[in-house]
Amino acid sequence: MSTSLPILKHRPPIAPPKAALKDSLFDSHGRQIRDLRLSVTDRCNFRCIYCMAPDVKYIPKMQLLRLEEYIRVIRIAMSLGINKLRITGGEPTLYPHLDELLQEVGKMGLKDIALTTNGSRIRKQWAERWKENGLNRVTVSLDTLKPQRKDAITRSQTSIVSVIEAIDHLRDVGLQPVKVNAVVMRGVNDDEIIDFADFAIEHNVDMRLIEFMPLDAGRRWEKRHVVTAHDMLEKIRTKYELIAENDPKTSTSVNYRFKNGNGRIGIIASVSQAFCGACDRMRMMADGTVRPCLFSDKEWSILPLLRNGASDGELRQFFVDAMWTKSAGHEMDRDDFERPEKTMSTIGG
Ligand code: GTP
Ligand code: 5AD
Ligand code: SF4
Repeated sequence: MSTSLPILKHRPPIAPPKAALKDSLFDSHGRQIRDLRLSVTDRCNFRCIYCMAPDVKYIPKMQLLRLEEYIRVIRIAMSLGINKLRITGGEPTLYPHLDELLQEVGKMGLKDIALTTNGSRIRKQWAERWKENGLNRVTVSLDTLKPQRKDAITRSQTSIVSVIEAIDHLRDVGLQPVKVNAVVMRGVNDDEIIDFADFAIEHNVDMRLIEFMPLDAGRRWEKRHVVTAHDMLEKIRTKYELIAENDPKTSTSVNYRFKNGNGRIGIIASVSQAFCGACDRMRMMADGTVRPCLFSDKEWSILPLLRNGASDGELRQFFVDAMWTKSAGHEMDRDDFERPEKTMSTIGG
């Protein structure tokens, strides 16, 4: 494993003029970027074993973007063709201005606004308010249906029942489809694959089974811990007949309906069948660091520009330049693959 530090530069190299021809964001591989995943906090009340270290060091508060900075960044990104926004964390319900942010972005004319949460803090009234403010969809993490196992996976003690109630409530207020994410890890929760399928039907949600990726803080990830998409599907097919959906080409999950039942199953094969070729995502962390690819340590900070009076035009150019550097793919199967230094809790899910 390399000991070199991640490439942490403020400014990306200037992209060739053709990158900035239209009011759009393209990378050098011809992919148009439409989907902004914005982490609004790196704080979390969980310490999931696949995501966060128990003794995590948070980004200093001064470096976190302020509400008006998030709003400005989103507006600039929209002027470059971004039409999907996913608010992530850490745990975004710990961001003190989440409501105000949702109120503002709800008025901005985005095609799709979604939120990823661990579901542990959601109150009934919040879901209704979020919906009124223009949020379209919510994704909730739920990696086990067994209470004791939940404590072990999240390294915290919160009720699994309240997360399931939150899922039902989000669905009932129409923040649909509710996607429920489970990271499947061999020897940890892979005996629950059928239970997850049952859960999708019972609760009428999109249950997504995710291959474990090398983004854990403990660096305990090994290929043998990954349960492949193929194996997960085989398992589900021992009980259920599945019908393949016609997914959009940018979908991270390959989705299936049940022949007899509500809900859907989505399999996210990030490790065994990379979907990088159709990736339209960019990520911004809570301190304004833009990471064009989840798996590349190449990242650029908009913070100095934001805090030193940069014009809208300069911020637009920053995005054009940053996204031009997006790598073609993660190449996880190469022997010299280097796992990112940062974890999902910082980068944003
Ligand atoms: P929407 O299309 O906005 O609904 O999001 P999604 O279906 O991609 O769902 P979500 O954001 O919850 O992502 C689901 C999981 O897919 C994440 O938790 C990651 O495990 C994986 N994933 C998301 N984005 C990427 C990416 O850019 N690269 C890779 N390799 N995996 C990703
Ligand atoms: N592998 C796969 N998915 C991960 N997530 C976090 N860490 C990992 C990992 N190492 C996903 C979880 C969570 C979302 C925020 O990110 O599914 O729902
Ligand atoms: Fe927190 Fe989500 Fe990471 Fe779990 S996966 S530690 S809930 S940010």
